[in-house]
Amino acid sequence: MDKLVINGGKRLEGTVSVSGSKNATLPVAVAASILGDGASVINNVPDLRDVETLRSVLEVLGATTKFKDSTLHIAPRNEIVYEAPYDLVRKMRASIYVLGPLLARLGRAKVSFPGGCAIGPRPIDLHIKGLEQLGARIEIKGGYIYAQTDRLIGADMDLSGVHGPSVGATANVMMAATLAEGTTRIRNAAREPHVSDLAKFLNAMGAEIEGIGTSELKIHGVKQLLGTEYSIVPDDIEAGTFMVAGAITGGDVFVKNALQANLEAVSATLSEAGVQLDWKENGVRVTTPRHLNAIELSTEPFPGFPTDMQAQMTGLLSLVSGTSVVNEAIHTDRFMHVAELNRMGADIRVRGNRATVRGVPKLSGAPIMASDLRAGAVLVLAGMAAEGETVVSRVYHIDRGYERIEEKLTGIGADIARIDE
Ligand code: EPZ
Repeated sequence: MDKLVINGGKRLEGTVSVSGSKNATLPVAVAASILGDGASVINNVPDLRDVETLRSVLEVLGATTKFKDSTLHIAPRNEIVYEAPYDLVRKMRASIYVLGPLLARLGRAKVSFPGGCAIGPRPIDLHIKGLEQLGARIEIKGGYIYAQTDRLIGADMDLSGVHGPSVGATANVMMAATLAEGTTRIRNAAREPHVSDLAKFLNAMGAEIEGIGTSELKIHGVKQLLGTEYSIVPDDIEAGTFMVAGAITGGDVFVKNALQANLEAVSATLSEAGVQLDWKENGVRVTTPRHLNAIELSTEPFPGFPTDMQAQMTGLLSLVSGTSVVNEAIHTDRFMHVAELNRMGADIRVRGNRATVRGVPKLSGAPIMASDLRAGAVLVLAGMAAEGETVVSRVYHIDRGYERIEEKLTGIGADIARIDE
């Protein structure tokens, strides 16, 4: 298993490029494989473990996929299989995205019920509720979701849950509704950049979705979707992670391809902490003064501060003098990174869904373990800022969502080596 060995204390300087969005690629590839008649060519696809895992799911369901030089070619076959078994779904929760499309295309689906994960329980009741409102009959038995319908019919629904709108439920229902009869209206739809990117892709395939980027989507059902060519939006979370990398090392970094419109909340939060951001058309320059400010922040659905940036920001705040407070309002148990940061000398206490971060003057290198994707990312950030050597194990979590992370960061001055043990 790979480890990352980081020699900390290097100031980052230079340009680092952001790849395509993981969380947009996953549903887009599902839609291309199951909903489309004819082949699709998807550009700006990141080379990630999650994309590999999804390709194996799609191959089992009946698509032929080829990935080379950031381009994913998908050719759906005539025979689509309606079952996504446990062995595949357990590797990646996003496999649940096949449920709506299979139902729309075949009138039935059998998909393993995804379990919880390191960031909490992660229910799917809103996916089920939305699909039932489109007329699906759904039963959960033996760890599987069995869904069936004679014909999906457009409906009016509200998809907000206790923690706000759901990205996954919005995407799943939106995909199913593209081929339903009549119009579907989703109120309290998720507005994350990857949801909008999926909607744009579906429209490029021939769907009729209105209200993209707003919390009310209107989907007029069509008879057929066709394969198309599309380019995935830059990954806002990878961009945000690099922005924090610049800040945590006191660096001067240009994050190329970062899109301001998708990073307003991250920008506002970093600015409030005192990080200097200079937005250009093709990215953002991040420079860091000697003193940063302690702040209070709370994660929220887009356009609020993303939960997927909470760990990275907590890492930065651990080195900012004063007391910061971080509220995690989306995945309320998502604090697995805190114990590892504390092993490096941070002073962070978690109570319920709130972390109190007392800034320390320095972190020191230690052997640490990634427990999920973003918890892994913050350990790399902390390792770069720490004194001495940090060895991050369970790097496969990081590889799920960051393309060649050590290469990209080494390119701007970090000292990170990947070793295979
Ligand atoms: C997506 O997960 C992302 N994953 C997550 O990114 C991200 O953290 C999350 O959205 C929130 O932004 C992908 O896009 C593949 P949700 P998803 O449904 O769709 C509750 C990363 O690091 N909820 O928007 O699973 C849920 O418990 C990953 O890249 C229900 O109650 O998230 C949570 O509190 C991790 N019932 C909130 O809604 C449901 O049916 C938001 O979850 C569904 C969700």
